[in-house]
Amino acid sequence: MSLPSLRAPLLALLSLTAAHALLLHPPPPHRRCPPPSMADAAAGATESSAAHGLRSSLPLREPCNVVLTHTNADFDSLAAAVALAKLWRLQRPSMPTHVVLPRGANPLAARFLAYHKHLFPIRGFSTINPEEVQMIGVCDTQTRDRLGPAAAWLENATHIAVFDHHEYASTDLEPDELLVEPVGSTTTLLVEKLKASAPPPEHVHRAGWRGTP
Ligand SMILES: *[C@@H]1O[C@H](CO)[C@@H](O)[C@H](O)[C@H]1NC(C)=O
Repeated sequence: MSLPSLRAPLLALLSLTAAHALLLHPPPPHRRCPPPSMADAAAGATESSAAHGLRSSLPLREPCNVVLTHTNADFDSLAAAVALAKLWRLQRPSMPTHVVLPRGANPLAARFLAYHKHLFPIRGFSTINPEEVQMIGVCDTQTRDRLGPAAAWLENATHIAVFDHHEYASTDLEPDELLVEPVGSTTTLLVEKLKASAPPPEHVHRAGWRGTP
């Protein structure tokens, strides 16, 4: 992947990180997650911290929505999936929405996740109970063969939503909701949707820009 094609989704992902940390769920200072140690980084850990590893290994015994990246996830698929999960969490707070990478991430995205995975609602594939999956979102692809083992979950989904920017691709996912526009990244589509549903400015002030340098 060339650097220019990487930059837009990477910036979007970083701004989503900031939005997540500051705007929607401002954490009190004493509960901030510590940054991963250099030892974690040196080990190339894909599980970012012991706490996160514990959380993501708990089996899920409750109905949930799932947003999927494609296999070998890149930054666009990842950022778009995080944005869609955030949107669904805002719109449907009664049920958790998890992001799942059906078959790993590319080396750059994996390295990013080694440091920052704990900031996102990402669950391991094997922690999802297929029978509990309700809505499924798919970001940056429209075909079953890019969903790896997660394609089987489509069978019983209550709603399938597909977001992609590959205009000339065709879909075999039988979506209930399909948004394909020839923009630079799938993340663009989702960030636009997220911005349209963002809380009004007064709420943002109350929620925690206070104290930001
Ligand atoms: C879908 O539902 C059927 C009937 O309840 C069940 O047999 C099957 O295992 C389910 N498939 C998945 C992937 O959960």
